[in-house]
Amino acid sequence: MIIRQLDAAEAELRLPDLADLLVDAVAQGASVNFLAGFSQTDGHVFWRGQLPGVAEGSRRLFVAVEDDRLLGTVVLTFAHQPNQPHRADIGKMLVHSSARRRGLGRALLDTAEEEARRAGRTLLCLDTEEGSAGDALYRACGWTPIGTIPGYALSPDGVPAGATFFFKRVG
Ligand SMILES: CC(C)(COP(=O)(O)OP(=O)(O)OC[C@H]1O[C@@H](n2cnc3c(N)ncnc32)[C@H](O)[C@@H]1OP(=O)(O)O)[C@@H](O)C(=O)NCCC(=O)NCCS
Repeated sequence: MIIRQLDAAEAELRLPDLADLLVDAVAQGASVNFLAGFSQTDGHVFWRGQLPGVAEGSRRLFVAVEDDRLLGTVVLTFAHQPNQPHRADIGKMLVHSSARRRGLGRALLDTAEEEARRAGRTLLCLDTEEGSAGDALYRACGWTPIGTIPGYALSPDGVPAGATFFFKRVG
C-alpha cells in the first residue's frame, strides 16, 4: 500500500474510483455530508467539484493505493482567508470498508499533516460525527477535541447527530 498525491488530471481519470469510495462510506452509514441513496453520479459530481482547487493548488488530494486499487482518500484544503495563511482543513478522510483498521487512515492523515507543515499550514481543523470511527481516529492521532455541537448534521439515515470539532498544531 502506498500513499500518493493525485494531481487534477489523475484525479479526473480516477473519478469512478473516488466516487466508489464516497458511495461506500455513505452506504456504510458514515456522516460525510451526504444522505442515504448517494449514487455514483453524485460521487462524480462531488469529486469533479474538487478538481479546480486541486488544479490551482489550494487543495491537495492524497490517496491510498494497493495493487492499483484506490482504498482511501484525504483532502487538505488551505484556508483562503487573508488573515489565516497558517490554517488548513482536513476533509474526505475515507477508507474503503473492506480495508479499515489496517492503518490506512492514520497513514493518510500523517501524509496530509506532513504536507500541511511543508506548506506552512501549521494549524489544522476538522469536524466529525460524535463517537464515530473518525472521532476515534483523530483522538488516536493526537488531535484535540474542542467540543461537540448537538444535532449538527443528519446521519445518512436522516437522524440528527452531533459533530465534534478538532484542531491540531503541526508546526
Ligand atoms: C475513519 C476512518 C477513515 C478510519 O480509517 P482506518 O484506516 O480504519 O483507520 P486506522 O486503521 O488507521 O486506525 C488508526 C487508529 O484510529 C482508531 N480507530 C480507527 N477506527 C476506529 C474504530 N472504528 N473504532 C475505534 N477506534 C478506531 C484506533 O485507535 C486505530 O488504531 P488501532 O487499529 O491500532 O486500534 C474509516 O473508518 C472510515 O473511512 N470511516 C468512514 C468515513 C468517515 O467517517 N470518515 C471521517 C469523516 S470526518
